[in-house]
Amino acid sequence: MGSGLINDPQRIDAVLKKAHEESDIIVSMKMRMGYDEPTEILDVFPILDKYPIKNVAIHARIGKQLYKGGVDLDAFEKCLSASNQKIYYNGDITTVDEFREMKKRFPTIDHWMIGRGLIADPFLPTMIKNNTVEYPENKVEIFSRFIQELFEGYASALSGKSHVLTKMTSYWEYFTQTFPDPHKTYKRIKKAKTIEAYEEAVKLNLDGFSQF
Ligand SMILES: Cc1cc2nc3c(=O)[nH]c(=O)nc-3n(C[C@H](O)[C@H](O)[C@H](O)COP(=O)(O)O)c2cc1C
Repeated sequence: MGSGLINDPQRIDAVLKKAHEESDIIVSMKMRMGYDEPTEILDVFPILDKYPIKNVAIHARIGKQLYKGGVDLDAFEKCLSASNQKIYYNGDITTVDEFREMKKRFPTIDHWMIGRGLIADPFLPTMIKNNTVEYPENKVEIFSRFIQELFEGYASALSGKSHVLTKMTSYWEYFTQTFPDPHKTYKRIKKAKTIEAYEEAVKLNLDGFSQF
């Protein structure tokens, strides 16, 4: 249930106890800051300290927000001072500039988790690592090879072309966010019901991408 456990520290304790008693796994955690309030996580930190937790990635929202509204950076800052754990930041990093701002605000954080921003722009992690806002010159070629590889991977793992197209379409919903006309570009892929139509749509999209 996503963040359904966050306001039940006793249950988190029970899960961690069992995991540590019955396996050698070093657990890492992924949490929001609460379900109803961003302070709920503060009651979980003392529980985590009982176990050799590797790290805690915090998505700086609360459960009832789903993905609406912004991340709550003030509440995240409170987590940093309240916890002894190795904390990773997660939430809404979609550009190098946004990353730089976050790094300035949280200089002690040295691990960052990126979800949707990475799918929308697969170049983002490398650009962050290289501290540049410049895309590689052959960006369209690299991107084209990447989606081809994804396609082939799904084609060999899934049975049925329609399943492959469904998977690729859900990626394209993110990819097109960085294209010149996201709505039109995504619609083109969504309309394609055969592999041939999909390939044609990809070609048109990539032509638009290279002029961008
Ligand atoms: C489609 C989708 C599926 C997700 N599934 C999971 C999941 O199974 N487990 C999890 O911990 N987080 C899941 N998340 C949340 C992300 O890991 C991440 O915390 C969230 O998207 C915020 O980071 P972002 O702004 O970089 O995407 C999911 C997010 C999306 C958009």
